[in-house]
Amino acid sequence: MGDIQITPSILNADFGSLAAEVARIPGADWIHVDVMDNHFVPNLTFGPTMVEALARSTDTPLDAHLMIEDADRNAPAYVEAGCASVTFHVEAAKAPVRLAREIRAAGARASMALKPATPIEPYEDLLAELDMLLIMTVEPGFGGQKFLDLCLPKIRRARALMDKHGVETWLQVDGGVSLETIERCAEAGADVFVAGSAVFSADDPDVMVAALRSRARE
Ligand code: DX5
Ligand code: ZN
Repeated sequence: MGDIQITPSILNADFGSLAAEVARIPGADWIHVDVMDNHFVPNLTFGPTMVEALARSTDTPLDAHLMIEDADRNAPAYVEAGCASVTFHVEAAKAPVRLAREIRAAGARASMALKPATPIEPYEDLLAELDMLLIMTVEPGFGGQKFLDLCLPKIRRARALMDKHGVETWLQVDGGVSLETIERCAEAGADVFVAGSAVFSADDPDVMVAALRSRARE
């Protein structure tokens, strides 16, 4: 298991001043960028042009979470845009192995996401191709949703499979992560934590990043 990392999602930040919002969380390990196309999920955010501008405005690496159809064709543009990690959804990819290899070859960390109802077991042999696995703990589409406890056993099973295969793959959780739920995720084996509303609704977002980190380490 890697060290604990916190990646605040800007989905709940002020889209009118994203550079300023990101500057409020210097303690973040990554900035989580939720790309939505109104097809894979019923919500629309931004595309590679805006992500590129955001990448230029901060030294913190960007962790793109692509909730978009036709990931095979659309994901490489986010490496080009300057994201250091690119996550595609397996439900939206026709050739996940080829896509992961393409993302890595282009110079970013390759990551694959599973929606709450998508099992990990069919993808056991893909873990070695991935730098990170994202297990969603809400249905993707919106920030501020309630954490789904039913995803915890899958986090545990994913961690066990990673141990079995001896891979260095990080295990990210996303959705409803807060001071109340982060310990459960860490205990189940997650090491990278996305938090949107918990961070950006806090009086001091950077203090919340530090609080989440220490709660996950407990
Ligand atoms: C949901 C997004 C999440 C979301 C997290 O589809 O992928 O990254 O913004 O927000 P919270 O932490 O509020 O659930
Ligand atoms: Zn996300």
